Amino acid sequence: MSLPTARILGIETSCDETAASVVSDGRVIHSNVVASQIDLHAEYGGVFPELASREHVKAIYPIVEQALHQAHLTIQDIDAIAVTQGPGLAGSLVVGMNMAKGIALATRKPLIGVNHMEGHIYSAWLYPANASPHQPPNFPLLALLVSGGHSDLVLMKDHLQYERLGGTLDDAAGEAFDKVARLLGLSYPGGPSIQKASLSGSSTAFAFPRAMMEGTWDFSFSGVKTSVLRTVESLQAEAKNLPIEDLAASFQEAVVDVLVEKTLFAADTHQVREIIVAGGVSANKRLRERILSQSKRPIHIPPLSLCTDNAAMIAGAAYFHFVHKAFSPHDIDVLPTWPLS
Ligand code: KG4
Ligand code: ZN
Repeated sequence: MSLPTARILGIETSCDETAASVVSDGRVIHSNVVASQIDLHAEYGGVFPELASREHVKAIYPIVEQALHQAHLTIQDIDAIAVTQGPGLAGSLVVGMNMAKGIALATRKPLIGVNHMEGHIYSAWLYPANASPHQPPNFPLLALLVSGGHSDLVLMKDHLQYERLGGTLDDAAGEAFDKVARLLGLSYPGGPSIQKASLSGSSTAFAFPRAMMEGTWDFSFSGVKTSVLRTVESLQAEAKNLPIEDLAASFQEAVVDVLVEKTLFAADTHQVREIIVAGGVSANKRLRERILSQSKRPIHIPPLSLCTDNAAMIAGAAYFHFVHKAFSPHDIDVLPTWPLS
């Protein structure tokens, strides 16, 4: 059975990126516009929620216009509007949601709410309109979702069927990168700063703990974060210079060890065919190298531009909802709709 063709306008404002994109059939990216607020939040060392909402209000209209313009389309050419429903910062989500509802009501087009983490999963299906398509992921698959708010292992036996095997019990992987970067005096966001510092450090200089959480598919990263903090405190108490690069590389290796080992073990246990790694932390070079070299199964990791937040992933995921069911603007709210909250 062939699926209907649909061009979807996606909108994403869950955190500190205002993004809009046009994607057709869940795969082909016609435009993908992202306005990052990173510079604005950097001086606070993290996302300042009220500032984020205000910036979304300023950016949302031109960003949506740019997404249509770059796709050489008008709103009339679009079959449905998709928007991130959650999880995310409520004040930020509301901006994207209201824009999407406004467009849907004015144009009488269907509106589709997408869970942000579901969007990250579907980033693995996407490719630019001017590139040749890669093989889409095959089910059953396991998705490792690692972002600023999540570290989840999700089993998918088919489209839109999500079984969350486990997730972080405390800090998410990205959150741990951000917090450790801050305590090492590195800039926000922490993931790229730690990655950069690690390049000239030794990953075996410090033996930070690996919480394997045996018998569960859960993660815990607060122990490794605290261990870095204690090490920094004791080095400072001895008035020693902090070996920032070694601390960063040893921390990164500890996190990557846990992510790779648990993901590969879960893939074996659940006998999946393929693995998706997605979310902001999937941009991490060491994580990418390690999982690609250690897995005996095909691994799908989006290109760097699709690892961090974007709206193409929201428009992409929405297509798979669209072919099943579209929603009325009255039905959706700023709440995640399914278990991955
Ligand atoms: O998916 P994302 O853009 O936003 C959320 O949904 O949270 O993920 C952001 C997270 C941040 O914690 C950031 O430090 C982390 O992804 N990140 C990285 C890298 N690039 C971004 N972590 C490790 N290595 C990277 N290269
Ligand atoms: Zn994200």
